[in-house]
Formats: sequence, structure tokens, C-alpha cells
Amino acid sequence: MTPLLLCLAGDGIGPEIMAATKKVVVTACARSGAKIEMQDRTIGFRALDDGLSTIPQSVIDAACASDGIILGPVSHNDYPPREEGGLNPSGVLRKELDLFANIRPARSFEGLQTPTGQDVDLVIFRENLEGFYADRNLHSGSGEFMPVPGVAMSMRLITERASERIGRAAFDFAAANGRKKVTAIHKANVMRTSDGLFLETIRRISGEHPEIQYDEVLVDAAAALLVRDPGRFDVIVTTNMFGDILSDLATELAGGLGLAASLNLGPVTAAAQAQHGSAPDIAGQDKANPTSLIGSAAMLLRHLGQAAPAASIETALRKALARQETRTADIGGSLGTLAFTSVLVDLIQEADA
Ligand code: NAD
Ligand code: IPM
Ligand code: MN
Repeated sequence: MTPLLLCLAGDGIGPEIMAATKKVVVTACARSGAKIEMQDRTIGFRALDDGLSTIPQSVIDAACASDGIILGPVSHNDYPPREEGGLNPSGVLRKELDLFANIRPARSFEGLQTPTGQDVDLVIFRENLEGFYADRNLHSGSGEFMPVPGVAMSMRLITERASERIGRAAFDFAAANGRKKVTAIHKANVMRTSDGLFLETIRRISGEHPEIQYDEVLVDAAAALLVRDPGRFDVIVTTNMFGDILSDLATELAGGLGLAASLNLGPVTAAAQAQHGSAPDIAGQDKANPTSLIGSAAMLLRHLGQAAPAASIETALRKALARQETRTADIGGSLGTLAFTSVLVDLIQEADA
């Protein structure tokens, strides 16, 4: 059956990078004879303008019925309160579709200088449904509260089940992809109970994989080590917020946030999602680098068994990013979103089938 991809453009630069992504995916699938169907639905401020919430129930239903989702960035920080329809689409979809693993590779591109001059090649497995996230960790819808005025508290949820799932995903990925080491990143010196449980669980899973090296690093030291010696990391497994923060750091060190692909993975479906936000400062100006969402779509295609179009997209990205003349402004080039997309389309069409 032809896989159905649900495309949700989102806010800010979302519509521009989604248009670019769809064009590249359609070209790559046509070139390799892969069949794919795409359907658009509205989320974010446009859905709110239609009198709905930022993630309408009909979109959640369509996401459940699709084989995969391409999710654009949203201006979540500017949304009205949830009572007025301002829900975080990423959080809701991750929760509703049980997308427990956020897989975030950080890999430098040949020919593209990295900020520290060091190559980066690591993959972060970020637990995606628990931790400090107020909008997704409790069924009441909020993990934050004020017991008395002037005092705010946050709940941080860590369970053995979620730690086990993300741990297994990380080790299975390492084993299947010839990766040598898994590093658990934590703050168990302070959060002894919650990160203690996380670590104990990951340690147990590491015992099932004697062929893969395993070590543990405290999150603050991990931030420093990522800058000093990114080569010491291979696969990283960590809790939600540490993974959120460290993945932006790692991908910036690998060349830039605009290049950072990611896949939200669940037992039934997956969502491709750029790692960055909606970049309102450059929205509507043809300045956005679509690489992150395009690379995420390639990850989704590979996950759906469409390895040929995925590989042709990744090859085109590598070729375009290798040359100064075919880069976007965020990484020192001069091409706009549309021109960069045309370069990718030409590279895919010119490549040997
Ligand atoms: P951001 O990632 O949107 O932008 C940070 C900086 O990187 C900005 O200077 C921006 O111009 C630049 N940038 C980001 N993506 C780029 C791209 N593809 N090409 C070129 N430059 C790019 O982070 P922010 O400004 O902190 O957040 C803006 C909004 O996005 C907020 O409402 C935030 O809540 C939301 N957000 C959404 C997601 C998501 O939907 N997955 C992720 C992070 C932030
Ligand atoms: C991300 C984002 C989101 C998150 C925000 C927008 C809620 O930063 O996908 O990395 O923290 O999960
Ligand atoms: Mn983030």
C-alpha cells in the first residue's frame, strides 16, 4: 500500500520549509520509483484563526490514520493559554501517538567548517514523553503549579518503563548501525531518585549488550565535553530536557541548527521534525534553511522502508552543503530557501538512478 504522509506546516518559517521539503520528497520518490501520498492539514496560528485549537482533534485523528507525519515548527511560545486553544502541537502529537523516542543525529558535513574545527558524528536518543515537560507529563495537563503565590513548582516524571524503552531504542540502534558506545547523560548526583532510576535502568539494559561500550557522564560535564571533544560521544541516551538542550548544542557544533534533522519515533508511527523552532525573526523572507526538515523527512522515509529516496535526498544535501555557492545564508552562503531547494531538486534529478 502507498504510505500516506501527513504534512503539518506550522508557524513562522514552517510553510516555507514545508514547501521545500515536499518538493524534494516528491522529486526523490519520483526519481527512485517510490510511491508516496501526501496530505496537508492546518495547525498553529492558522488553525487558531479558523476558530480551532492550534492542534485540532481532526488533525490528531488524521495523524493517527497516517503512516508518518512531517511536522513543521510552531511558535508555541507565543500561543495563548491552553483554555484559549494554545496547545503545543509537538507535545500533543508526541503524547497521542506514543512517540517515545526523539532521535537527533548531529553530524558534520564534508566541506562545511564546524565552529570548533572538530568533526561531529553522534546520535542523541532523547526520552520524549516525560521529564520536566509541564504539558505532557501529567494527565491533568500540567506538571507545574503554585502552592502559594510567589512559589512555583515543577514535577519531573521519570519511570522505569520509559527509561527502558529509550534505553532499548538507543542500544538497538547502536547494535544495528555499527556504533561502538552508548553514553547515558544524567544529573543523578543531585536528582538521585529520578535520574537514579533512569541510570539504574539504562545500566541494566547495557548488560544485555556486552558488545557495546557503555559509560555515564553528568550533564554539565557533558556540555563541556561536547565542545572540547565531541569524538568521545557516539550514541547518547538521556532524559527529555537534557536531550532537548544538548541536541541543539551538538547540532550547532556540527555545523548549525538549520541543518539538524530529527525523528520522533513510536511503536506505530513516526514524525519527522526539524530540531529548530519557527524562527519568527526570518519568517516570510526566503531566508530559512530547509535542510533540517528535509533531512528529517529523509529519516522518516528510511524508517518507512523507502531507503532509495532517503539516500538520494541525503546525497543531494551533502553535495549542496559541500559548496559555498550552494549554501543558505545561516551557514555563510547566499542562497534563499527557494533557490537552495531548486539546487537539491536538480541534484536529485541529475543523480544516477
Ligand atoms: P528558533 O530555533 O526558532 O531560532 C533560533 C535561531 O536560529 C534564530 O536566530 C533563527 O533565525 C535561527 N534559525 C532556526 N532555524 C533556522 C533555519 N531553518 N534556517 C535559518 N535560521 C534558523 O528558536 P527560538 O527563536 O527560541 O523559538 C522560536 C519559536 O519556536 C518559539 O515560539 C519556540 O517555542 C518555538 N520552538 C518550536 C519548536 C518546534 O516546533 N519543534 C522547537 C523549538 C522552538
Ligand atoms: C523541540 C522543542 C520543543 C520541546 C518545544 C517547542 C516544546 O524545543 O522539539 O526541541 O522542548 O520539545
Ligand atoms: Mn528544542
